[in-house]
Amino acid sequence: MLDGEYGWANQIAMKILAKLGDLFGATKLIPVQSAHLSGVSYKHMGDGAIKFLDEMASKGGKAQTRATLNPSSFDPEYLVKRYSKERFEKQTRILELYGKMMIQPTLTCTPYYIQEPKAGQHLAWAESSAVIYANSVLNAWTNREGSPSALAAALIGKTPNYGMHQAENRKPNVLVKVEAELKTEADYGALGIHLGKLLKDKTPAFHGLRGSDDELKQLSAAMASSGMTALFHRTATGEQRDLETISVEPSDIKKAASNLCKAHQMPDLVFLGCPHCSTSEVKQIASLLKQTKVRKDVELWVCTSRHVSEKAKTHIEVIERAGGHVLCDTCVLVSWIKDLGFNTIITNSAKTAFYAPTLNEVDVDLKPLSRCIQVACHQ
Ligand code: F3S
Repeated sequence: MLDGEYGWANQIAMKILAKLGDLFGATKLIPVQSAHLSGVSYKHMGDGAIKFLDEMASKGGKAQTRATLNPSSFDPEYLVKRYSKERFEKQTRILELYGKMMIQPTLTCTPYYIQEPKAGQHLAWAESSAVIYANSVLNAWTNREGSPSALAAALIGKTPNYGMHQAENRKPNVLVKVEAELKTEADYGALGIHLGKLLKDKTPAFHGLRGSDDELKQLSAAMASSGMTALFHRTATGEQRDLETISVEPSDIKKAASNLCKAHQMPDLVFLGCPHCSTSEVKQIASLLKQTKVRKDVELWVCTSRHVSEKAKTHIEVIERAGGHVLCDTCVLVSWIKDLGFNTIITNSAKTAFYAPTLNEVDVDLKPLSRCIQVACHQ
């Protein structure tokens, strides 16, 4: 493959994997159960990346393992009508090229809701929030891939055996004692932003961390945004008592949350679904919207995958009847929300609150889901 005997696309993919393997001292490639690719939204990719994908697709690139895609710049029902023909064509082209390479257009950052990886399975995933969730909550094994290396792993069906694929690198090297009470998913997100900055790429074991899968999803996404952590252990064992210890006090959570609340005016967009909503989150939003309506001067976006939206149809009808928009295939960060006239958003996602001021040039407030719904409906 490296010599080009299996075509240009496979040669490039193999070169990427071999280079990575050399860099990190891997001695072999190992098969992966799935690859999950970022590098899908035209907003972030631009034209150069389309050219590269075009070459890969036309010169024989075909996925050799189950491969899925992150969100794109818009959904085909609601946002698509609000962007230019050029953006539509470019985004469509990207999806066609991935399709040609047999990569599934799942368009979600929560591929684990579609097919949950089993504990101990090796993956090559590129979405950082999904990587840390897969490693920590699902106990699958994946490095934090970039777009090119996840594509290369999809085409070869393998990844270099280093980092999170080796048991010795998955051991915790710092103990985190959570002394603060975490009341909402926004608190879990604030904890993640605080710790990501402190830990960089260390692997923490938590002492005193409870939380539902949805709350741990917020923690995962946030920790992977402000830092490089790819794995945490939910509970520390006795032998980890001697590790370097970090305590998280209530004031740390308060400070991290207040740094993520920078809005100067009332929000014009209420955004839920970063990472994409689970069925239980959609259900919770629907139950809060049952007896009320979204104000006319604000939009409510609930982003999720097509898979979850199919499963949660009745709840989605409730959200839409109340005036909310359930958007599949996309999210705020990968879309051009400033061009739609939005200046201030409120969200329960610390990841969005962390990135949107720079990536979307908007002001953001971080609040729990229930407060976001209140703001949307002015109760
Ligand atoms: Fe997913 Fe978009 Fe957030 S890709 S993790 S909803 S920024």
